[in-house]
Amino acid sequence: MKKILITGGAGFIGSHVVRLFVNKYPDYQVYNLDKLTYAGNLENLSDVDKMPNYHFVKGDIVDASFINQLFEKEQFDGVVHLAAESHVDRSITNPMEFIFTNVVGTVNLLNAAKAIWKDNYEGKRFYHISTDEVYGALGETGSFKETTPYSPHSPYSAAKASSDHFVRAYHDTYGLPTVISNCSNNYGPNQFPEKLIPLFINNIKHNKSLPVYGKGINVRDWLYVVDHARAIDLIFHQGRTGETYNIGGNNEWRNIDLIKKLIEIMDRKLGRPAGTSLALITYVTDRAGHDLRYAIDASKLRSELGWEPSIKFDEGFEATVEWYLANEAWLNNVTSGSYQDYYKKMYGE
Ligand code: NAD
Ligand code: TYD
Repeated sequence: MKKILITGGAGFIGSHVVRLFVNKYPDYQVYNLDKLTYAGNLENLSDVDKMPNYHFVKGDIVDASFINQLFEKEQFDGVVHLAAESHVDRSITNPMEFIFTNVVGTVNLLNAAKAIWKDNYEGKRFYHISTDEVYGALGETGSFKETTPYSPHSPYSAAKASSDHFVRAYHDTYGLPTVISNCSNNYGPNQFPEKLIPLFINNIKHNKSLPVYGKGINVRDWLYVVDHARAIDLIFHQGRTGETYNIGGNNEWRNIDLIKKLIEIMDRKLGRPAGTSLALITYVTDRAGHDLRYAIDASKLRSELGWEPSIKFDEGFEATVEWYLANEAWLNNVTSGSYQDYYKKMYGE
């Protein structure tokens, strides 16, 4: 019997990881610790929350005494740490929240794990989930390797980079059995509609304008969230201690091309004449410090652990659009209230 703590399990990627662990490992007790910020939504877990091996704990990773007490009480064997402030645009308007949760929160978890494991690290693991954004921006060619020097540009990526450094420092200094992965942009069901794909799906549906930053020529690598969850499962169980693994979809898109593909699918699904929603595209002022291109070299993960993306982009993208159209209540719930205030502040609509 193992006790696993998953932080941020009510969020986008975390909910897919919780689902996978709860279903695949009935002999694990899975604890989901989440503060339930605007991005945390327990509806994401309605299919697993009655399972006997699932437990929810509401709490803030920034609160050190709460975290220490929780670890002392539950004696977790493993931690899969996803809780974070995750949106670049919010980090530009409010960086402090990112420093508290992403940096201080991560160090609180490291301290709590170190305190209960007391140098007896047999069967223990602290897995920190990070992003490719820590590596900075690429030009037209090349890809991020695990050895690429860190060069974050946004407060979000700077805070994630800082937390990665602390995780490595706890491994190197105290021998804490850590592992880190850095993944590219995820897409799929349950992503909060402030991020590009769900935001634009929702806007196309409601005939609202599509704010394309700059010229729309920035490039992102997109991975289906379920494939990220599979990689996390593999790395948690088989990744080498002290190592870093890059995770990517080998699937680069210029924003504007991705948006046109999305419009093509949406117009078809909504029964609009092809190309109708192209008129919604509105070029707006570029994001400050906007990274031009991200691309991942995931060959280490492939060669060491045999991981490859299993979902083809065409299939995953279409399934994603279908999910948001079929889950209108989910979208309406998360786009009401405080989200509306944020959206108005951000886009002035
Ligand atoms: P998300 O914003 O959807 O979810 C974050 C979750 O963390 C939410 O449930 C939120 O309530 C919780 N949380 C926030 N602050 C907290 C706090 N102080 N205490 C406890 N819980 C708190 O984020 P996501 O997109 O699912 O990303 C999850 C992780 O994966 C993050 O660490 C992110 O940096 C990383 N990541 C994301 C992507 C991506 O494309 N979304 C890509 C690579 C890596
Ligand atoms: P986003 O989903 O915020 O992810 P990230 O910034 O972590 O890559 O944005 C993806 C890309 O889409 C990024 O280049 C910024 C761009 N973008 C827009 O052009 N308009 C928008 O309204 C948003 C949210 C993003």
